[in-house]
Amino acid sequence: MKSLSQVSQVVTPSPIREMFNKAIGMEDVISFTVGEPDFQTPDNIVEAAVKALRNGEHKYTPNAGILPLRKAIAKSTKESHGIDYSPENQVIVTAGGMEALILAMLTILDEKDEFILGDPCWTNYSRQILICKATPKFVKVKAENSFTFDPEDLENAITDKTKAILINSPANPTGGIASKELLEEIAKIAVAHDLYVISDEVYNRLVYGNKRPCSIASLPGMAERTIIINSFSKTYAMTGWRVGYALGPSEIIGNMVKLQENVAACVNSAAQYGALAALEDSQEAVDSMVQSYARRRELIVNEFSTIPVLHCYEPQGAFYAFVDISETGMKASEFASDLLEKARVIVVPGHAFGEDSDRYIRLSFATSDEAIREGCARIRGYMKKNFG
Ligand SMILES: Cc1ncc(COP(=O)(O)O)c(C=O)c1O
Repeated sequence: MKSLSQVSQVVTPSPIREMFNKAIGMEDVISFTVGEPDFQTPDNIVEAAVKALRNGEHKYTPNAGILPLRKAIAKSTKESHGIDYSPENQVIVTAGGMEALILAMLTILDEKDEFILGDPCWTNYSRQILICKATPKFVKVKAENSFTFDPEDLENAITDKTKAILINSPANPTGGIASKELLEEIAKIAVAHDLYVISDEVYNRLVYGNKRPCSIASLPGMAERTIIINSFSKTYAMTGWRVGYALGPSEIIGNMVKLQENVAACVNSAAQYGALAALEDSQEAVDSMVQSYARRRELIVNEFSTIPVLHCYEPQGAFYAFVDISETGMKASEFASDLLEKARVIVVPGHAFGEDSDRYIRLSFATSDEAIREGCARIRGYMKKNFG
């Protein structure tokens, strides 16, 4: 048999999956791995999708998505960022933020182009860049900058091959929110070096405390070089519906629509009607889910404050606690395996998020208060026994 494509081989299985596999067959395991809301999609959204099906919305939709949804997306983005996007040619509806990201990358990246990512960052970015045959280039990001690029480090990483920078704020896995001041510095660098920016804002409604995320697209000179990625998955507990979107310059979005025609044709039509209701109806359900995450965030941060040796970064957004384990002297991959074996708790080891991040573990707090209390009690017991 002839060999399979190189692209199919560059994508390695995710370390999150590896942890899951290790837990198979184990009983009484508490998992902090899953990066998705533990809530059901609000009823009004489900009803709108059912109604669309009953009304005969069974056909292909436009490749870019139904116009009422694109209008609602443009309106809600205008409200949150103050930027005008034309629903006709600057908005595309995609199969989750995931598809929006890869369509954007396929549109801007050529073979061997370099794409700058933070280390740590969400696992899938680098794999998507590799699928585009481009090169992910990691730049270390630090807790003192809320895990956003230090402008000097960013500038030093730019070469004549650099094509784009990825900003994810609030971030997975850290929960960091980029300050407006840092984004202004990054924007100046992007303009000076003529770089595109992909701004992944899928967690931008899940924020705690007073810090509100600023979109880099709203800064001077940036709307024309930024593609905003967003999604219904996290905000509206709609991960399985697969509805996300991108907004950006018409030339980029137009090309993404062309690719979409050849990839998925369009997003599931009923799901698009559900998403429309999500944006147009009351946001009470979102507020209530955010309140629950806020309570759990406080709970997990308080629990970690009583666990010796480990240091939990206080997340400002998303639903992840990012914990520095370096004082244990162990690699996070070893630590996570040992914790699973001895304490029956699964966490994600930091090497899932970047080479330099194997001294962190990530815990998703999109889970019940009881699981957080019990899981943290087990981690506390494990730490006292092994490092006390
Ligand atoms: C940072 C980030 N971006 C994008 C996504 C993609 O989510 P979806 O495709 O469900 O919209 C995720 C999912 O975990 C994520 O964490």
